[in-house]
Amino acid sequence: MASEPVDVWAMADLVTPFAVRTAATLRLADIVQDGELPLDEIAKRSGTEADPLGRVLRFLVRRGVFTEPEPDVFGPNEASRVLRTDAPGGTREWLDLDGAVGRADLAFVELVEQVRGRHPAYPAAFGRSFREDLAHSPQLSDSFDDLMETKSDELAPLVAAATAWDRFERVLDVGGGKGVLLAEILERHPDLRGTLVDLPGPAAAGERYLESRGVRDRADVVAGDFFDPLPPGADAYVLCDVLGDWEDEDAVRLLGRCAEAAGADGREGSVLIVELLPDPDGEFTEMDLRMMIYVGGRMRDLDQTERIAAAAGLFIASVIRLDDGHGIIECLPDR
Ligand SMILES: C[S@@+](CC[C@H](N)C(=O)[O-])C[C@H]1O[C@@H](n2cnc3c(N)ncnc32)[C@H](O)[C@@H]1O
Repeated sequence: MASEPVDVWAMADLVTPFAVRTAATLRLADIVQDGELPLDEIAKRSGTEADPLGRVLRFLVRRGVFTEPEPDVFGPNEASRVLRTDAPGGTREWLDLDGAVGRADLAFVELVEQVRGRHPAYPAAFGRSFREDLAHSPQLSDSFDDLMETKSDELAPLVAAATAWDRFERVLDVGGGKGVLLAEILERHPDLRGTLVDLPGPAAAGERYLESRGVRDRADVVAGDFFDPLPPGADAYVLCDVLGDWEDEDAVRLLGRCAEAAGADGREGSVLIVELLPDPDGEFTEMDLRMMIYVGGRMRDLDQTERIAAAAGLFIASVIRLDDGHGIIECLPDR
């Protein structure tokens, strides 16, 4: 619960976020990265109109992003450097209005209608669902896979180090994106083999990515729908940041597919759910809203996760909490 006085006007401001996101989308920080440039030149290099661009830049300068050392000349500063494409953390890419997640944020304009029960936000804003958008647009799909890679740059090493993966022979990463986590686990455990399952776009990217990480010879890549039966024979089925994308009914179906494959031929394979858990104050409401708006999913605490696991015939055997707020929730068949 917030204890500081809350400035509701500042919280509700939309001008600043849109100005920052416009700068991110137009790569203005990249354009001025080597120093000050006249407005006309920035407009030329960003393919924009000088007058509205200048008004956005002047506003941002007043907010502390970019400098205007003389009229109609703009330069970089510490804050603008965060918006450069080569800055760590991928801030520019997350805010890019042409990228999968920056664009999905625009669906928040429909939040009130979703709350009124009139329609889900994303399809109302864009005419089709987030997943349909990715399936139809290689540019959006690639940008999403790249963002997941950025996110995984921090998460994958934590997950790979947190549990004893060498007790398994084959790890199957369900909805593993381009395979950042799988590559990290295989790199650390040379005797381990892996399988990546994802939709055709990410799976194709996964083949290239696993090759680039030098683990392709120990990894199978399967392009398919994870609601269909999963390849059996692995002793660990991993769902990393996947279950939160789905409402309970679909999450149970997906866990059921994992349980079925993990239990094939009388095996007792593990299902490892890697998901953001509420922090000690119970907070993960922002991510919960994002999941609701983007894809109609939801975040779950441990009790909620236990319920959907039980509905899929699994019980929670252990929970490891990671420093970044995620947990590794290991489930086994409830026989
Ligand atoms: C939020 S991303 C997480 C990716 C990866 N596990 C990670 O942590 O970076 C969800 C993944 O689920 C995949 N996905 C969504 N629906 C799928 C389906 N029906 N079958 C297979 N994969 C699916 C997406 O393509 C995406 O790679």
